[in-house]
Parts: sequence; C-alpha cells; structure tokens
Amino acid sequence: MRRYHSGPDFRRAHSIAELAQMAHRRLPHFAWEYLEGGAEEELTLARNRQAFADINLLPHTLVPCHGTETRRTMFNHEWPLPMAIGPTGYNGMLYHDADIHLARAATERGLPFTLSTVSTSSLEQIVAAVPEVNLWFQLYCMSDPQVQDDLLQRANAVGCQTLLLTSDAVLLGNREWDKRNFARPRQLSLRNKFDVLCHPRWIRQAVWPQGMPSMANLDRYLPADQRNAAGAAHFIGAQMEKTLDWDYLARLRDRWPQRLLLKGVLHPADAEKAVALGLDGIVVSNHGGRQLDGVPASIDCLPAIAAVAKGKLAILLDSGIRRGTDILKACALGADAVLLGRATLYGVAVAGQAGAAHALDLLTNELHLALTLLGQPDMSRLTATAANTHSPLFTVS
Ligand SMILES: Cc1cc2nc3c(=O)[nH]c(=O)nc-3n(C[C@H](O)[C@H](O)[C@H](O)COP(=O)(O)O)c2cc1C
Repeated sequence: MRRYHSGPDFRRAHSIAELAQMAHRRLPHFAWEYLEGGAEEELTLARNRQAFADINLLPHTLVPCHGTETRRTMFNHEWPLPMAIGPTGYNGMLYHDADIHLARAATERGLPFTLSTVSTSSLEQIVAAVPEVNLWFQLYCMSDPQVQDDLLQRANAVGCQTLLLTSDAVLLGNREWDKRNFARPRQLSLRNKFDVLCHPRWIRQAVWPQGMPSMANLDRYLPADQRNAAGAAHFIGAQMEKTLDWDYLARLRDRWPQRLLLKGVLHPADAEKAVALGLDGIVVSNHGGRQLDGVPASIDCLPAIAAVAKGKLAILLDSGIRRGTDILKACALGADAVLLGRATLYGVAVAGQAGAAHALDLLTNELHLALTLLGQPDMSRLTATAANTHSPLFTVS
C-alpha cells in the first residue's frame, strides 16, 4: 500500500486509499486483517484492483459541460447516484454501532444500505435508529428453515423491499490471517492481545465498555448464555447451508415476492439462469476476493454477463471499487450500479458516520469530475465500444 501522511483527521483524506491508511493505523492488527484481507494468496483481491487499472478511458475533447448527470432509474426508483452500500458482516468490531452509522450516511445521500445476516445491529435496530433508511437485507441460506423463515418475516416486517441472497459463501473462504490471529476460535493469540492494548482509541470507539459485539440478527436464535461473538460464530458456521442450489433459489423466489437479487454471479450462464428464474437483479461479485482465490476480477466478468442479461434484470457489481472512475468504468461496461464494501468500511472504522459519509462524498466528487473530463457528462449515455476490458473505453458523444 502506498504511504500517505495525512495525519489522524479523516477530513484530510483525499482518497479512499488515504482513508484505508488511517483505518490501518486506527485498528488493531486482527481487525485490520479482517477488514482488508482476502483468501489464500490474495490473487483475486489483487486482480480486483489491477483489472480496473487496466481499463483505459478515452475522452472526447471540446465537449462543453453544463453540469453532470448521475441519476439512475432502477427498480422503478430514481437514485441520485449509481451506488449503494453493500453487505458486510461484523462491522461493529470496527466501530461501535457501525451498521447504524453506515445506514445514516447512505440515507442522508439518498442511497440504499444493505444489512448483512451477520451484522452487529439487527434489522429492527437499524429501522428504529434510521427510520428513513432504504434498507436492503442480505441473506445467507440457513439450514434451519424456521430460522430462515423468521429472518424473512422480520425483513418484511421492517419494510425491507430488497433481498440479496449471497451464493458464493456456503463455506467460509480460506482466510489464513484469521487462523494466525486466533489461538483458538474467537480467542486472540497473545501477540494480538498485546497489539489490542496498543490501540486505546480503537478500544474506546469499538469495544469499551460494551465488549465485543454479538451478531444481533441471530441473538434470538441462540440460548441466552451464547449471545456473544463466539456463540454467534459457532451458530452461523453450523447453519450455513452447503447444499444451496437453483431449486432453493426458485423456492425463495416464490417465498419472497419483493425484489430478489443473487449476489456472487461471475459466469454468464448463471446470469442467464437468474433471468430465467425471474430474479430482479444480480450482483456480479467475487466477495471482495475473500472466498475462492483465483477467480477473475468481477469487472472482467461484467461484459460477458451484460451481453446476456443487460436490460433483463438489474446488474450490480462489486469488488474493488475505490475511485469514482471505477464506478464510471463499471457503468460503461454494463452495470446499473455498484455496491461498496471496504470503501465505506474504511471510513466508518476511522470516524463512524462522518467517516462513512466522507468516503461516499469522495467517490461522488471523483465521479462528477471524471464525467466532465471524459467529455460525457451524462452517465446514462456511457457505453464501451469493446467487450474486452483491456481495450480503451470509448464514450458516445
Ligand atoms: C469485512 C467484510 C465483511 C463482509 N461480509 C459480508 C457478508 O456478511 N455478506 C456478504 O454477502 N458479503 C460480505 N462481504 C463481501 C461484500 O459484500 C462485497 O462483496 C465486497 O466487500 C466487495 O469488495 P470490496 O470490499 O473490495 O469492494 C464482506 C466483505 C468484507 C470486506
């Protein structure tokens, strides 16, 4: 990672990379690795960034710009920007009530916020704290149908209209840092315990005095004495349904009449199946490089997916979005919008809601600037001439 010298004030971070640097300094080692790490050799994690770097932008010159247009219509709703905060679990380890801070930052900007199944604030807590939130819920397929059904009922009861089923994490990816940092499950190694003591600011902002957060959505399914991080981790490990298949998704389609998206699509044939099942959208995603190492960057999979699915359902993309130009490239190659993972997590880890808001504003400002400099101020008119992402990216004038 490039070194920046922006000090501790998050407002002095001029890019997501600088926010990441601040988060790195702020968090104890084990929490930083949880946020930043990928699976095994981290090949996919690295590709996610390299693939965006490999896409060239070819601007038109002498195009007068009287303002930029980033609005997008998706799901019969007009969004101010083609982005939403995606689902990330266990955010409360980065900052107390991080899910609520993220939800507030997104809501203030008219953007959706996605709550993970394994979040540290529950569906009910989010809606109580941020009543205006456009709440999306990410579902892991649970082996206990009663738990699954109850989660769906609760999502419905709090007014959640959009459900994302994550399909690329039926087993947890091989994250070696996790094994290194813990002596036993949920028991930090001595070295990491010492490192925690060297981060008093994080102790204050994340775990003092309330302790490590539990997975709040799951608390009610656990015996009272196991409603903590260790109990929830054990529970979710046992619950993750490894036999998840297309029949399950078809049943979920019948069970959940509101918007249903499949998260974790990389193969165009799977995108076609999602269209055939009548899904409302897909998320082209490799889980931020945290699951199967060696899969392509999701942006490299996008053109082939857009070729078979564009206009038939909403196409969202995540994995590696760190710049406004990344959003622009994703939309030009066929995405309707992007989901943000680590980008907003860096912000929330540094300064809660204000940090998350800063991350969103950095990306927004970069996007507006890039549209102007590209000579195509209207996002909806962005297209790429070639499906090959290593070719220059052209815009229509
Ligand atoms: C710390 C962390 C936790 C995550 N937890 C979840 C989760 O609970 N459910 C899920 O579907 N995806 C989860 N993801 C994956 C994100 O939704 C998203 O696919 C990924 O972060 C995108 O990559 P990026 O962070 O490099 O942009 C997580 C990612 C991170 C970094």
